[in-house]
Amino acid sequence: MKKILKSTLAIVAVFAVFTSCNNADKSSNSGALSSNNAEKVYVAPGEHDSHYAFISGGYSGNLTVYGLPSGRMFKEIPVFSQFPTNGYGYSEETKPMLETSYGFVPWDDSHHPDISQTKGKLDGRWVFINGNNTPRIARISLTTFETEEIIEVPNSAGNHSSSFITENTEYVVAGTRFSVPVPQKDMSIKDYKGNFKGALSFISVDPEHGHMDIKFQVLMPGFNYDLSHPGRGKSHGWFFFTTYNTEEANSLLEVNASQNDKDFIAAINWKKIEEYVNNGGGTMMPTEYAHNVYDDDTHTATSTMKKEVRVVNPTEVPGAVYLIPTPKSPHGCDVDPSGEYIVGNGKLSANLTVHSFTKMLDAIKNEKFAGEAYNIPILNFEDVLAGSVEQPGLGPLHTEFDGKGNAYTTFFISSEVVKWKLGTWEVIDRKPTYYSVGHLTIPGGNSAEPFGKYMFAMNKITKDRYLPTGPEMEHSAQLYDISGDKMELLLDFPTHGEPHYAAAIPAEIVKNNSRKIFKLSENEHPKKALSDADTKIVRDGKNVHVYMTMIRSHFSPDNIEGVKVGDKVFFHITNLEQDFDVPHGFAMIGARNAELLIAPGQTRTLTWEPQKVGVWPFYCTDFCSALHQEMQGYVRVSPANSDIELSWSLGE
Ligand code: CUA
Repeated sequence: MKKILKSTLAIVAVFAVFTSCNNADKSSNSGALSSNNAEKVYVAPGEHDSHYAFISGGYSGNLTVYGLPSGRMFKEIPVFSQFPTNGYGYSEETKPMLETSYGFVPWDDSHHPDISQTKGKLDGRWVFINGNNTPRIARISLTTFETEEIIEVPNSAGNHSSSFITENTEYVVAGTRFSVPVPQKDMSIKDYKGNFKGALSFISVDPEHGHMDIKFQVLMPGFNYDLSHPGRGKSHGWFFFTTYNTEEANSLLEVNASQNDKDFIAAINWKKIEEYVNNGGGTMMPTEYAHNVYDDDTHTATSTMKKEVRVVNPTEVPGAVYLIPTPKSPHGCDVDPSGEYIVGNGKLSANLTVHSFTKMLDAIKNEKFAGEAYNIPILNFEDVLAGSVEQPGLGPLHTEFDGKGNAYTTFFISSEVVKWKLGTWEVIDRKPTYYSVGHLTIPGGNSAEPFGKYMFAMNKITKDRYLPTGPEMEHSAQLYDISGDKMELLLDFPTHGEPHYAAAIPAEIVKNNSRKIFKLSENEHPKKALSDADTKIVRDGKNVHVYMTMIRSHFSPDNIEGVKVGDKVFFHITNLEQDFDVPHGFAMIGARNAELLIAPGQTRTLTWEPQKVGVWPFYCTDFCSALHQEMQGYVRVSPANSDIELSWSLGE
């Protein structure tokens, strides 16, 4: 144990030295940015970027959309967090999106976006992203850029080795980071070892609508499952998960989970398990998890509580699960575009380990095993090893590929990106990052067909890269040109929240499908109002339903009387605009939720519980026309015992 503490201290010391070096380096480095590099990121006013980047927001719970190469932020898409900017998670239509088996959970920690694929290539239909804290997977439409579906993942905790997809988007995978009792029960934490389980969930994706359904969960030994990547090409049908804490420690993991020289990459033959399950294999386990689906026609989400999930014990399906020894608490688990190489980024390892899929199959065929863990065969490290990159840097985390035979690995401790060659394992180039890089992204980097022109690094520490903003700075991404032999740093740009991974794609695959309006003729919201003639107010006991429209530059109705203290007022508002980019907002004084921002053709509902007698204004929050400031109205609120009848008007 002493030795491990020592080496941990040594790593911390090296980290401190590198960080301060980088500080000193900075002035000389900035001089290296030539005007040539500036031209490479310059997108002239009115022109468009060549790529979209979807960057996870981490503790913002959301997903942000950027343009490359400019680094301009286009949109923040609310996913797991309430978002007052447009009322997501506050409006009646979107509140069901945040329902879980724990009740309404208005926040999460979003981590790893992955774009849908067809035949191993990015198809630009959806982005998936995981909620780490209260395990969930979300699907975001790349037509509307809105979250369309969220499925909770039961038997899971710290949903980290997620949400990566198979090469035809057959499955989106969610793996637990923390093992837990499955099913949950009251037991001593000290009895963890041998009793906790790690659930790896395979969530099927309907090819037409993208709807998700948990097909099965593999109940693995109680390790920590850190990251995962799909097999592709020759390894299609397999999925690979890094593990750490194969020691199954339950306390002081920084020491106790660093005892084993090697942890494992778990190789899961999901096709084999799928076949087993299709033939009735596995067990239905009672549990509870929410499945929330947003409907574009009704503009409304519904939440359904599911009551059981199919679980599979890996030993039930011989030949489906193997463990590949991988040095030193591997983090990233990255598969190259050909599907042959599986990179295990051992956080505390001096060398970077690359496994061979072909050698893995041979070892399995020859039944050459080094032993077993909970009856799961362990392969011999040497039998599966393709090669290793010798001493490439300190603290490897993640690897991406350019499709030209090169790999790019981030090193957190030595704060750099290292380019190396697949097959020869030689280091070709290294460039510092500012500072302490976590993930990196190449457009299509997790697919059979990467677009190897740009790479960007997502750094954990910003420090002096931007003007100071108090003790906390937004994280900094750095864009590199990787089209030549050597990487060239082009640009720093701030990111929102804490990006853990990003998915990027050439703009032409996405932009032409982008929705411009919602057609009023297709609006099936039950409380829509499609013209002034449809507007009305209906009292149902203490509930008052206002069917309202909005168009440049008035609300209809805009004078409302007959509302009383103690009422609950539901403003159902339809935006009648049918022009691109003309939303209207709605804000009501004293409403204890948020405004609504309503897209053209959309209907949204704000709930308001008036507490005080008086005449109270509402207004449009979005500067929609020259007469935006005139877009307003009043609600008269009378005492609870008043006998004033409901009435409403516009004009006259
Ligand atoms: Cu409508 Cu401002």
